Amino acid sequence: MNIGALFAVIPLLAVVIGLSRVKFPRAPLIAAVLVAGAYGAATASIGIWAATCWDCRVEAGPRSDVLMVFAVLFGILTAGTLVGIWLGARMVTMLRRLMVTARELREIASDVESITFTDNPKRMVAEGYDRVAQAYTQWRERTAKQPITGYLDRVTEGLPHGARVLDLGCGSGAPYAAMLSERFDVIGVDISAGQLAFARDLAPRAAFIRADMASLPLRAGAFDAAYVLYSIIHVPKEEHEGILRSLHALLRPGARLLLVTGQQAWEGTEDDWLAPGVEMFWSHFDRETNERMVEEIGFRTLDARIEPDPLGGAHLFLVVEKPA
Ligand SMILES: C[S@@+](CC[C@H](N)C(=O)[O-])C[C@H]1O[C@@H](n2cnc3c(N)ncnc32)[C@H](O)[C@@H]1O
Repeated sequence: MNIGALFAVIPLLAVVIGLSRVKFPRAPLIAAVLVAGAYGAATASIGIWAATCWDCRVEAGPRSDVLMVFAVLFGILTAGTLVGIWLGARMVTMLRRLMVTARELREIASDVESITFTDNPKRMVAEGYDRVAQAYTQWRERTAKQPITGYLDRVTEGLPHGARVLDLGCGSGAPYAAMLSERFDVIGVDISAGQLAFARDLAPRAAFIRADMASLPLRAGAFDAAYVLYSIIHVPKEEHEGILRSLHALLRPGARLLLVTGQQAWEGTEDDWLAPGVEMFWSHFDRETNERMVEEIGFRTLDARIEPDPLGGAHLFLVVEKPA
């Protein structure tokens, strides 16, 4: 075997596996097992032959020692090949994701980052989340992922790898945008630049846009699923219907939406939210109004439940579908 040719195969394999990894996430693992199996078997047979067959060794003379050395080198080469393929595949996947992300943004977004927040509640929310971004991110990473992951599974059920998923009011992207972007093209939208700075770090495979969810710079029919976790509750409730209507337009027929929103009507502010001096604003309808609104807009309700909130209180979890 020509060792030079073997080394030439490594980058080639890395590229093929890296490209196929988006559609077949287990490709590197399968390749590693196949390569390890083939090289391992070859190494082991040479080693066993040279170590156990005394007659062959006598016959082969000094050649047997050369073979023993060759077996060890072959083993080292096996390990090197695996590491090479693994690293190469990861690099190619990352490059591909960066290209996909840039293309996704060009395809789905218009007028990115051009929004100015003039009205007071939104400025209060954006600045508040900028200030608590780090504390919120740390808290979010510590809180239980259930029941949200269960609902997200329901919303993304049956979607192929690479399907486009919208995270509206994504915050720091931890942990859900980070998790889902392993399988899907996740686009996160948030009003807080501070939260998005964390999100870009914590969910490097997702794409993020700074925008007000009430005027989304996104194209109709662009998404296969969407989720809105505890974010619409920070927007004045008069705008909720418009936001849900634009979500309906953004989703393709048959797509599902998880909406986590208020279960009791309330509007108000807090002065020291999560940190001294941080003002925050909330506004939401009661359960009945929310449930009626999604149906009137044209969604079909699949599930509606009240779930306890890790910060106290409870929220309405609505799983709805845009009829096909
Ligand atoms: C409670 S956090 C939830 C973040 C994330 N969905 C999660 O579950 O961890 C609310 C998020 O909604 C964002 N948000 C509030 N008002 C918004 C608006 N008008 N447009 C976009 N994002 C908004 C905030 O910046 C914040 O990151």
